[in-house]
Amino acid sequence: MNYGPLLFLGILFTLASSWFGLVLMPNRQLGALVANTSTNDAGAVVVYPQARSGQAQQGAELYRSLGCIYCHSQQVRPEGFGADIARGWGKRRSVSRDYIYEPTVMLGTSRTGPDLTNIGERQSSAEWHLTHLYDPRITSKGSIMPPHPFLFEKRRIGAGGASTNALKLSGAFAVAAGFEVVPRPEARQLVEYLRSLKTSFDLPEAHLPKKESGDDANAKAAK
Ligand code: HEC
Repeated sequence: MNYGPLLFLGILFTLASSWFGLVLMPNRQLGALVANTSTNDAGAVVVYPQARSGQAQQGAELYRSLGCIYCHSQQVRPEGFGADIARGWGKRRSVSRDYIYEPTVMLGTSRTGPDLTNIGERQSSAEWHLTHLYDPRITSKGSIMPPHPFLFEKRRIGAGGASTNALKLSGAFAVAAGFEVVPRPEARQLVEYLRSLKTSFDLPEAHLPKKESGDDANAKAAK
């Protein structure tokens, strides 16, 4: 008996079903995701997520090149799958829509340090981030995160006096009299990126905890 046609159909079916399951369906589910538009407590229209500014995008490249991903994740697991939300790493679980504007998704697999999904909200001060990057032990006693002094310039204080953007260093971290430490553009870019990491927005597929959910906000706005 000639099995040729049967074999052909079998192979065709196998390839077609895997293309359907691995390419077409994921593309329909994820490829079609767009930013969500909602109304906040104040009645203002909120579009989330939004594309990053150029400065923050350059910071994302630095984050990648400096290997921050080896110690920090950017994914909050749902309640019941771990203590991520209880630890304050995010107000809701992460969903695919959070990443639609990421050219390179930096989910991370190891958590030597805290998850950074929502660090821009948890810590919004640029000064804190700059000081922490220069030497994490200044802001976080006993931190094992490596210092990144190469993102800063140590220079002699000019005739005009200390720069306004010089780090405030004291005690064991103080630099010699007459010198100051100022952030290089790379440090500013990295901090812009960290401050752009915010996910406390209500989405239809992942609501914020009840008191902050978009539905409530909409109800309040209607009153
Ligand atoms: C060797 C592991 C390691 C690497 C590499 C590392 N970190 Fe950290 N990071 C930590 C640890 C541990 C902490 C917690 C202690 C602290 O706050 O310093 C931390 C804390 C942080 C925090 C504060 C988090 C919070 O919840 O307060 C930020 C922001 C941060 N790291 C950013 C970075 C960036 C940006 C890079 C890359 C330039 C980086 N880290 C590289 C280990 C690391």
